[in-house]
This record gives sequence, C-alpha cells and structure tokens, in this order.
Amino acid sequence: MRYGHFDDRTREYIITRPDTPLPWINYLGCESYFGIISNTAGGYSFYRDARLRRLTRYRYNNAPFDIGGRYLYLRDNETRKFWSPSWQPTRTKLDNYECRHGMGYTTIGSTFGKIEAQTTYFVPLGETLEIWKFKVTNHRKNPAKLSLFSSIEFCLWDAQDDATNFQRNFSTGQVEILDGVIYHKTEYRERRNHFAYFACSEKLAGFDTQRNTFLGAYHSWDNPVAVARGKSFNSVAYGWAPHGSHHVKVNLKPGQTKEIIFILGYHENPVNKKFNPPNSQTINKATVKPVIAKYLDGGNVAVAFQALREHWDCLLNTYQVKTPDIHANRMVNIWNAYQCMATFNMSRSASFYESGIGRGLGFRDSNQDLLGFVHMVPSRARERILDLSATQLKTGGAFHQYQPLTKRGNDDIGSGFNDDPHWLILGVGAYIKETGDWGILDEPVQFENEAGSEKPLYEHLCRSVNYTLERLGPHGLPLIGRADWNDCLNLNCFSDTPGQSFQTITNKEGKVAESVFIAGLFVLAAKDLVAIAKKRGLDDEAKHYLAEAAKMEKVIYQHGWDGEWFVRAYDNFGKPVGSKVCEEGKIFIESQGMCIMAGVGLDDGKAKLTLESVNKHLATKHGIVLQQPAYSKYYIEMGEISSYPPGYKENAGIFCHNNPWIIIAETMVGNGNRAFDYYSRINPSARENISDLHRCEPYVYAQMIAGRDAPTHGEAKNSWLTGTAAWNYFAITQWILGIRTDFDGLVVDPVIPAKWKSFTVTRKFRGNTYIIEVKNPNGQQRGVKRLTVDGKQVVGNLLPAFPQQTNPIRVEAILES
Ligand code: BGC
Ligand code: NOJ
Repeated sequence: MRYGHFDDRTREYIITRPDTPLPWINYLGCESYFGIISNTAGGYSFYRDARLRRLTRYRYNNAPFDIGGRYLYLRDNETRKFWSPSWQPTRTKLDNYECRHGMGYTTIGSTFGKIEAQTTYFVPLGETLEIWKFKVTNHRKNPAKLSLFSSIEFCLWDAQDDATNFQRNFSTGQVEILDGVIYHKTEYRERRNHFAYFACSEKLAGFDTQRNTFLGAYHSWDNPVAVARGKSFNSVAYGWAPHGSHHVKVNLKPGQTKEIIFILGYHENPVNKKFNPPNSQTINKATVKPVIAKYLDGGNVAVAFQALREHWDCLLNTYQVKTPDIHANRMVNIWNAYQCMATFNMSRSASFYESGIGRGLGFRDSNQDLLGFVHMVPSRARERILDLSATQLKTGGAFHQYQPLTKRGNDDIGSGFNDDPHWLILGVGAYIKETGDWGILDEPVQFENEAGSEKPLYEHLCRSVNYTLERLGPHGLPLIGRADWNDCLNLNCFSDTPGQSFQTITNKEGKVAESVFIAGLFVLAAKDLVAIAKKRGLDDEAKHYLAEAAKMEKVIYQHGWDGEWFVRAYDNFGKPVGSKVCEEGKIFIESQGMCIMAGVGLDDGKAKLTLESVNKHLATKHGIVLQQPAYSKYYIEMGEISSYPPGYKENAGIFCHNNPWIIIAETMVGNGNRAFDYYSRINPSARENISDLHRCEPYVYAQMIAGRDAPTHGEAKNSWLTGTAAWNYFAITQWILGIRTDFDGLVVDPVIPAKWKSFTVTRKFRGNTYIIEVKNPNGQQRGVKRLTVDGKQVVGNLLPAFPQQTNPIRVEAILES
C-alpha cells in the first residue's frame, strides 16, 4: 500500500494522507541554516550545529512519535472550531490533505470546512532564516472570519543542556517583542552574540511568548488555550519556556485568497555592537531589520524560492540518466543525489533517528559521504577534506568525530577505530578523481587542530597507511582496535556492566584481535595512494606502498580465506570470526565486499566463489543481511553486535550501507543482472508499493531493513542519515552505469542487466558536459568494444578530461561480446 506518489517532473514526493507509518521527513537548508520537517510540520531548526545552536525545541521518542514543530492553527471565529492545516497537532479530520516534499522545501496543505490553507517552508540561499509562506482561500459562499495562530517553541541553544539542566533553564529565558517581531534572546546578555527571531507580515491582533500561557496549564499542543478562546494573552517570557506565537485576524470574502509570511531566523551581531542603545540590554536590531523587511515581502520570497529551485536543478544536472528502469532514474536523478547532500551536510547528527545531540560529524562517515556528493559542489568537498584531515591524530589515527561549529575532533563517541584513517585516502582520491585538483595534496594541514603542526595533506595520507602498518596483529592482519566499519564488532571490549558504552570501554589490550575487513580496505586505499604518489613523481614511495598492498593481499589469502568466502576477523583469543568453524556468525558481508572491491580474488575465481556464497547465505528478497547465522545470544567477546535481537542492525539486519559493496563486487566480476537485482531490492522507490511493511520514506534510503531473522523482516528503520546514500549512488552511477571518475579522466565501463537495450548519461566533468549513449544490441552485461567521441573512434574506454568547450561532448559506447 502507498501513502502518496512521486512526481518526477516537479521532483517532489506527494504524500496524500497524513498518517504515514512513521513521520516522513525532509530537510530545509543546505548551507548553514538547517531544519528538519515532517509531513505534518513537525521538526526543528538549527544554525550549523544541531547540538550547540538549536533554535527550536523538539522532544524525541515522543508519543505520538512526532509532536512539536512549525505549527499553524486556524480558527473559525464564528463556530469557534479550530484545526491545524498540517493535521498535527490537532489531528482534525481534514477534507483533503497533501504534503509535497521537494528539493529543499516542503509544502503542506489541506482543506477543512471549505477553507483551503497551504504553507510552503524553505530556507533562501545565502540566508540564515526560514520562510513559511502561508496561503489561505475561502471557498465558502459566505465571508469567513478566521484567526490564525503561529506556534514555535524556542530552544535555549545548547540542545543537550536544554533537555537536562532545568534548575537553571527555567530561569534564563528572555524575549523582546517589537513591531510584531518576537526576538528570542536567552543568554544574549552574557556570552552569546546571537539571537533568534520570529516575524510575521501582518498586523498582529496579539502574541504570546510564554509557552505555558499560550497552552494553558495541563493543555497540550492540540488545544492551546489562546487558540481555543481565539485571543492571545500578549505574554512576555521571563524564564520558563520562551515560545513564539502571532495572532492574526483574517477576514476573507467568498473566493478570496490571502498570503501571509512568517520568518524564523538566526542572527549574529558583532560583539561590540550587541546592544542599542549601547550599554542597554536591548538587542541592536540595525542589521537584522533589513533582512526581516526583505523577506516579509511576497515578491522577494517568490524570487528566493525560484532561486532555490534553479539551484537544485543545476546541482542535479551534474549527473542525469535515462535507463529502462524508472526507479533507478528517479533515485539517480533526484532523490539519491538529494539524500547525498543531506548526509554530507548532517553526517549522522540530526534526523528523526539521530537526536542532534549525540553525534557530530563522523570521520569515517563524512569521508564516505564525499563519494556521493563530490560531483555536486567540489569546493565544499575540498573544504570538508581539509577540516577532517586537520583533526587527524599525529599517529595517523583519527578522532572519530568533530563538532561542525568548532571543527575540533573529540573522543566523545569513542576512539581507536582502526579503519578510520583509510577513509580519508578514499575521500581525497574521490575528490581528485572528480576535479583533477592535485594541488589539494600540497595544502598545509594541521594534526589534532594544533597550530604549528601543519604538513601537506599528502603526508596525512601516508600517515594513514603507516598507522595500519604499525598496528599489525599475530597473523599480519591489521589490529581491529575499538571496532572497524562495524561499530558493533567490539572484539576488545568484553563488557559485562550495564550502561557501559561499547564504543568507549576497552577491557583488553587489543594486541590480538584483527580485522580482515581493514586488510581489504588497506589494499583498496593503498592502491589509490600508489597512483597518487606516482603522479607526484615519488616512484620509490609508490613502489613501497604497492609492495605493502601486495603483502597484505598475501596475508588475506593466507589467513583471511575460509574456503568459500573471506573470514571477517580474529577475536581476542585468535579465533576466527565469520568462518565456517564458528557456531554463529559464520559469514559476514563486509569482508566479502571490501576484499573484492580491493581486487582480491578477481584473478583466481575466489571473488566469484565468494559472491556465490553471499547469494546463497546472505541474500534475501529485501536485501543482503550482514551476517548469518545471527547471534542468538550475547557473546562477550564479540560486543555490541550480539546485543541486538537477531535480524536487527549489525546482528544480521540488512545494513543497507554495505549492500552496494556487494553490488560493486558483482559488477567487477561482470554480473550486471545480479548487481542490478541487488540494487533494486533495497531501492526505496522500488519498495514504494510495500510502504506498509517498509514504513520509512519511499524516497530515501534507510540505514537498516530488518533481516530474515526478525519478525518484521522487510521493515526499514533509521532513514536519511546513512552511508547507504553515498554508496548506493556510487554503485549505480560509477559501477552499474559505469561512468567512473578516475585520476586521468572518465572511464566508461557499464555492467548492466542484459535486457537493457540502451541508456544515456549526461554528466558534467571537469568543465565539460558529456552525453554518453550506451548501446547494448546483443544483450550483453558488460564489455565496451567500441567507443566514439564526437563521432571519432577512440582506443580503450577512458575519456580523458578534454579542454573546456562550449558544446557537449557526445560519446557512444557499444557493448559487444
Ligand atoms: C550503534 C551503531 C552505530 C554506533 C555509532 C552504536 O551504538 O548500534 O549502529 O553505528 O553506535 O557510534
Ligand atoms: C553507523 C555509523 O555511522 C557508521 O560509521 C558505521 O560504519 C555503521 N553504523 C556500521 O556500524
């Protein structure tokens, strides 16, 4: 069953009933001001950092699940009935309802009692504010006398403190109200030079800024006293819970429409110009007033909205495809790319499953996010690489995360994840392959954010590799440390005390447990470093890293091969994990995908054999599970992985992040049919018809789909912020469609379903547009035999980066056996 449908032309998903199985959300903002918004207007906003600069309050894990947000109430002043045009929070039965989630905006509208109301929420480019453009139409035969109330709840900036430190917080809240604008200025008097504001384009009948006055004691969001009685209290918050509500009277003739604009914004003043008059405690509003005036003007709002749409058209036009498969087209052309932007911006910090408090930007996550984002705004990818690498430890290891506001690394969610540093090499490699910007390698970058510690970025990459070489275990495989990609395979943890974090507790020395996955990752990353070193004329270094990669490959064959698949790891006792000798967890997905992606086993049939094993033991109709058999009990020597019930998360869930590793591996052995089949199993658009089972949004990937050991097999969870976005985008665009960036140009090497007769990719690359038409007359899965560029045949399948030209470069590739 469906809850809406795609409109590919407008690049929207249109939800037609409000009671989706879970909140189906969207992101507002793509630069520094962000918001998350559900299909019933739930969610919150923040400036740069979801923890440290939270503008509005949100309570997670609530009942109902999604309550609190950007609410509007309409009240019929004659009947005294009131309702929410976005359904929540009053949940009045509406005559019709529609939510359109688009690229950077959301429009929610409905009709009730012949009053049609619609709000479009978006963040104008270059601004630190969001606009709510509200439109109301009277379809009655009689005039309508309405009241409109807005409602947001201000958060006291540090979202963690806001949710815990009540003995202080109940006494700090302060606001100002001037010319209909509500200014939230808690802590502005002391160490903050920023404030929030909430403005309305209409003359106000009243306002409220104290939450409990607006709601009334023992009332909730579904029946605020101010709305029920049809009149604000003009309350001024002084401590307790600062709130923003405008009351506007709207009288409409039959057929009349009215547009009202609200702005919620964030503003900073220079520290020495915080107050006006100086030495008073009144906010200096000189610089914010023009911004407010600008966006309370409908004409300017329309221009800003159009600019946002064009911005997204331009970003998405970097890579457009036309294949015989509607779901692949839709995901590549619209939603998957869009999700990649969200994961790039948010890492794993703020979604409906990430509280914005727990996690900053992850080192390994952000580097992988680059894979799906770098082609859209390479300059921001460059900046991110330099920020990330400046947090790298001198040892070559990494802080696992950093806060975007301070850009400083920290150990809050653990340290010593021994895979971390290699992702930097892959991130930098992806960036150079996209841009040809070799200069980035010479950028001086700090270690551990310490002034004076600067070394060229290239040196950072070398230290990443050396980090592993200095940490090899008894078999010569890399020591796993806290964990590798799989946060929950904690082989040195041995946690027996409730409440301990598996990511921060270490009870073993860590000199024995090894990771075959990191070994594969090492080979993959080292190969990129070899190519980079060669380009820099450092032949000896290139030879050295190549030799190390070859050595590691040998070790994988010797100690990482289990006969039909790759072993996953060795535990603290030197016993294999992910081997046929194990009682449970005999085969894992990660080492299969990573070793083959690194090229291990491609020449001698081991890769093919491995992929057969994956198909036999791990593949389900909803995707490929992480391991089998699932752990049925807690194994202290395995850690968090065995803490989940079978079928969930890392314990044999379908962890969508690493399905594309297998998809890529399948393309590497030339199996286009199977690669695309796996791709489709987890493609959210292809799962739209089973929305009742899938439950998460059908337009974005979720981190996990319940595996076959779970009673809810097929149910998705944790949508939006997951490495799944980047990796699936990478797998379909670069490996299945096979238009692959390389250091020297674009490789054309599609590995597709045999039944596809043709497809076309339009791709911008280093200043040119390539229109690449792939023809498959004989039903091949792979094998470009003829390649022509602007009609001229070229040898091989590499398109060099041509000098910039105005016309698109037309490429034809023919697959033949
Ligand atoms: C979760 C993992 C997650 C990790 C992040 C763990 O508790 O189970 O899925 O990747 O935290 O630190
Ligand atoms: C989510 C984390 O963000 C990611 O870094 C990790 O690799 C996966 N979970 C698997 O544990």
